[in-house]
Amino acid sequence: MPNEGEIVTLMSRRDFARLTALACAAAACSSDGGSVTAPTGNGITISGNTMTVPLAQNDALNRTNGMIVVTQARAVVIRLSATDYRALSSVCTHEQCTVNEFNGSQIICPCHGSQFSTSGAVVRGPAGSPLKSFPTTFDSASGVITVNLA
Ligand code: FES
Repeated sequence: MPNEGEIVTLMSRRDFARLTALACAAAACSSDGGSVTAPTGNGITISGNTMTVPLAQNDALNRTNGMIVVTQARAVVIRLSATDYRALSSVCTHEQCTVNEFNGSQIICPCHGSQFSTSGAVVRGPAGSPLKSFPTTFDSASGVITVNLA
């Protein structure tokens, strides 16, 4: 079971193979506009630009300051409180490493130490541009976070 602040990376070998196939479908191998629909691990779904994340299957988000990295969506989801969840791009704007740590106030890139606020703003470089922030809603009745990845 992950501890507070621990990161859960949701990508199995099978998911990687699926992602590779999807990347092909969304890029050079498809002429349908690149809309991707794909089920992911831990109950996460991605349909078009909408991602849903059930808390029941993502224990890291059941604790304040928890974080998950959803590799398939190139996004992170963090919990600030029982009702406040944020989703941001996981791609660092410096040299595109995956941000993978949340210390409760900053999201941190492991490559060169850039830090971003919970709204994506650069707190510390070398990154010069913010992380994209995705509109996020939380349905407390169902315990599902919905993220607009557009
Ligand atoms: S790639 Fe993130 S700080 Fe350099």
